[in-house]
Amino acid sequence: MKQLKTVLLFGCVIGACLLAIAQTGAQTGQTPLPGSKQPIAFSHKLHVGGQGLKCATCHKNPDPGEKMGLASAALCMQCHEDVKTDSPEIQKLAAYAKDKRDIKWVRIYEIPSYVFFSHRAHLDAGSTCATCHGEVKEIEQMYKVKEMNMASCMNCHQANNASTDCTYCHEKMN
Ligand code: HEC
Ligand code: HEC
Ligand code: HEC
Ligand code: HEC
Ligand code: HEC
Repeated sequence: MKQLKTVLLFGCVIGACLLAIAQTGAQTGQTPLPGSKQPIAFSHKLHVGGQGLKCATCHKNPDPGEKMGLASAALCMQCHEDVKTDSPEIQKLAAYAKDKRDIKWVRIYEIPSYVFFSHRAHLDAGSTCATCHGEVKEIEQMYKVKEMNMASCMNCHQANNASTDCTYCHEKMN
């Protein structure tokens, strides 16, 4: 991966880069992804909008703060040991917890591992979850409200006088 990235970075003349950026930009609609099938039918609207849970209950942003992280089945079971135990979805959840299996959530926002990104740095710089993920409390089934790609990163960095040097987000070329 490292090598591939170095090659990519080397091979990317500025012109080609701008073209790539423009093309990615053109693809960015605001339309929901067609129902990505999650292993358990989890609803943010129900838990955040309805139950008033805080993001940090399930997304704890562990040190060093790059990832927000996803809740484990055991955490969910702190409530669902008692709540809605007759629901087939909760019975699936309970089975994950019992077998200590990770729930393989289908990822919605994901950027390639060769890109540096830190949640904490952006929260410290004044962004909120909604800046990048929209009004999650109204979302039934999670979808990509905003595109997260090089063009959208660059646009916001430019607007906020944050660096757009290649090495800010990609490992240094050598
Ligand atoms: C009760 C636990 C819970 C709470 C509270 C919660 N989430 Fe989540 N979140 C999840 C689970 C489970 C998933 C994975 C399933 C999915 O995508 O719907 C998830 C997925 C996400 C994702 C997509 C991650 C990805 O790339 O796949 C985002 C973004 C997100 N949550 C943002 C938020 C925000 C913002 C809040 C607060 C407004 C919040 N969540 C509150 C449990 C929670
Ligand atoms: C703070 C308590 C709490 C936590 C933590 C919590 N839930 Fe819930 N969950 C609820 C409540 C309350 C309901 C709504 C029950 C109702 O409709 O009366 C609910 C409903 C659900 C439902 C709908 C069940 C159905 O068939 O109607 C699913 C699925 C679900 N939760 C999954 C999860 C998952 C997965 C997690 C962990 C990521 C989680 N919950 C964490 C309290 C919680
Ligand atoms: C500056 C934009 C930005 C902000 C602000 C932001 N996120 Fe994210 N979020 C992202 C990107 C980009 C990813 C994909 C990261 C990756 O794949 O490494 C992501 C991924 C996630 C994930 C998936 C798990 C993970 O850690 O990769 C969750 C959950 C999440 N965000 C929740 C939140 C919550 C909750 C907040 C507010 C406390 C928040 N985000 C604020 C851009 C943002
Ligand atoms: C909402 C605007 C916004 C978006 C969207 C955004 N950034 Fe940033 N980013 C900032 C700001 C503001 C800073 C802080 C600049 C400073 O502290 O000088 C920052 C800082 C950073 C840093 C340095 C963090 C550190 O550890 O000091 C990196 C790396 C970065 N962003 C990568 C990304 C990537 C990759 C994306 C797209 C996936 C992205 N950013 C999207 C506004 C944004
Ligand atoms: C603010 C963060 C940021 C900066 C600065 C940045 N990139 Fe990126 N770059 C990304 C993200 C995020 C991706 C992955 C998503 C995508 O392909 O749009 C990416 C992907 C790439 C790719 C792979 C494209 C592909 O289609 O596979 C190349 C090559 C690249 N960047 C080169 C550069 C070069 C050259 C510079 C300096 C002119 C640069 N990047 C500056 C965030 C950044």
